[in-house]
Amino acid sequence: MCGIVGYLGPLNPKDVIVGGLKKLEYRGYDSAGVAILHDGRTKRVRAEGKLKFLEEKLAHESFNGHLGIGHTRWATHGGPSERNAHPHQVRGISLVHNGIIENYAEIRRELLARGADISSDTDTELVAHLLAEEVDRTGHLLKAVQNILDRLQGAFSIVAMWEKEPDTMVAFKDGPPLVVGLGDQQTFVVSDVQACLQYTKKFIYLEDREIVEVKGAQVQVYSSRGVPITKKVVEIDLSPESVEKQGHPHFMLKEIYEQPRAVAAAMEPHIDTRNFAVRLKNVGFNEPLPGVDSLDPLKDWENTRKILNGVERVMFIACGTSSYAAMVGKYLIETIARIPVETDIASEFRYRHPVIPPNTLVITISQSGETADTLAAIRLAKEKGALTLSICNVRHSSIDREAHGHLYMNSGPEIGVASTKAFTSTLTVLNCLSVALGRLKNAINAAEEKEFVQALLSAPSQLEVVLSYDKYFGEAANRLKLFRGFLYMGRGVSFPIAMEGALKLKELAYLHAEGYAAGEMKHGPLALIDENMAIVMIIPADQLFEKTLSNLEEARARGGKVICLSTGEHEHLRKVSEYYLPLPKAHWTVNPILSVIPLQLLSYHMACNLGYDVDQPRNLAKSVTVE
Ligand code: M6R
Repeated sequence: MCGIVGYLGPLNPKDVIVGGLKKLEYRGYDSAGVAILHDGRTKRVRAEGKLKFLEEKLAHESFNGHLGIGHTRWATHGGPSERNAHPHQVRGISLVHNGIIENYAEIRRELLARGADISSDTDTELVAHLLAEEVDRTGHLLKAVQNILDRLQGAFSIVAMWEKEPDTMVAFKDGPPLVVGLGDQQTFVVSDVQACLQYTKKFIYLEDREIVEVKGAQVQVYSSRGVPITKKVVEIDLSPESVEKQGHPHFMLKEIYEQPRAVAAAMEPHIDTRNFAVRLKNVGFNEPLPGVDSLDPLKDWENTRKILNGVERVMFIACGTSSYAAMVGKYLIETIARIPVETDIASEFRYRHPVIPPNTLVITISQSGETADTLAAIRLAKEKGALTLSICNVRHSSIDREAHGHLYMNSGPEIGVASTKAFTSTLTVLNCLSVALGRLKNAINAAEEKEFVQALLSAPSQLEVVLSYDKYFGEAANRLKLFRGFLYMGRGVSFPIAMEGALKLKELAYLHAEGYAAGEMKHGPLALIDENMAIVMIIPADQLFEKTLSNLEEARARGGKVICLSTGEHEHLRKVSEYYLPLPKAHWTVNPILSVIPLQLLSYHMACNLGYDVDQPRNLAKSVTVE
């Protein structure tokens, strides 16, 4: 959840590292720091709080060297303070770390017994002590890393440098991501490619327990036992501009407005617009059935069809917003393809001894592709023999690399901590998958497939219409900020949208909100309702409209103030609502893609009204690489 940048090359390391940290601040913003080689000694500058405080401190500093490391922190061991900020230094060793060292108490005891002088509350500093001891013994940073690797338990990615090897940095990982950027006579070691896209598009992805030594312009990856490994160099197709705000006040607003394009990009590879049919493209299940000899793209759909044909059950696993997308997926697949579907949150799945029956397709959903619990869940599912499919936004991410088959959100980089476009892109991909499964299982015919596809093709322009109502959502937000409690309700596919709407309000506006299945209200939550409770009702004109309307009346009868989100004009709803937010009329499969937009914008405007930082909400981070 922290951001790491290591740099070795001819440019000014301060500028490169701080520039990279700016791109990684979404990963954590409790403190930041750099350590840069300067006239043979390492100069370290750290500051509590956001990166801007470090920048203020660095404004008057200059450095002569060409090697440095930097870090932006999401606190785990030890509170957010300058003392606990990275880089940590012990004698000539400096290092930055993302993750958690689980056996830290034991290592700390041992180090104290050997007389170590420990100056922070972090687990990271202990690794610096271990490395310092080992370089003292071996006189070699790479060797020292190899010697301590087995001592560390938990999840970590670490970049280290040593004053006595001024042209070398060594990095290693077990868990959180670490990527090596290969530039012209310069090398970057970063948590995410975004940190150095302006300098290179060529990357090496480190696998767990691999170690990379960067020595001058030479880059060599080793196994934990010191065996050299030849790694594939991946070329990334992302522009540096795609990770800029491009005139918007916040990344979140930019990403909300990108949704028509993102949704179109999510469906584009899979829709045959001539025949209004779905052909899932480049799923690339990497365990072809006998008789299907390779991952030849022409055979890919054939291969995918054969494999999906054998699927009798689907299990979705994800966290947070991605888990609400999975819940929508359950309604879509069960209704359209008539295949039983379970959904689970990854942190529960991995520890509850799950039973995965034969012929189950386990689908993990993750924007970042790095969420630690989801990654562990997909590994567990594979261990249990399941066929796995990932739906990720970040290509080559750990979960993407782990899965047998792959579908992509294609949203482009999502930087705002609150997920928006990745959610609607996922719903789009799930629409495609449900229709493909429906056809394969003969649960729908070609005419029905056409109806679903046509509905989906309308989504981008319908999204434009919803976004054009932003002004009304802003006005509603102004009124709603007076409430202190919020209940979001919906039925069917709108139930997960209620959950997602409530999550957006919690994480951005720090207001208490709950998402509920509207039919459950009378089993308890109705007792909460009085005139201080705002009820956000998602009630599109679908087959559950009348039922949801009854639930709305029940809430109103208890004094609840209702904000209604429905399709088209509805006189009665407008009359009984404090605020009525209209949506274009759409197919039931597309309604969730449209109805989440007002909820994203409501939360965005409320957070702005309350003066909160919408891109970096307190206590959170974009990529949750610790469990
Ligand atoms: O990258 P992932 O999709 O795996 O992330 C899962 C959650 O951490 C994420 O959706 C989180 O709930 C967002 N902050 C919600 O806006």
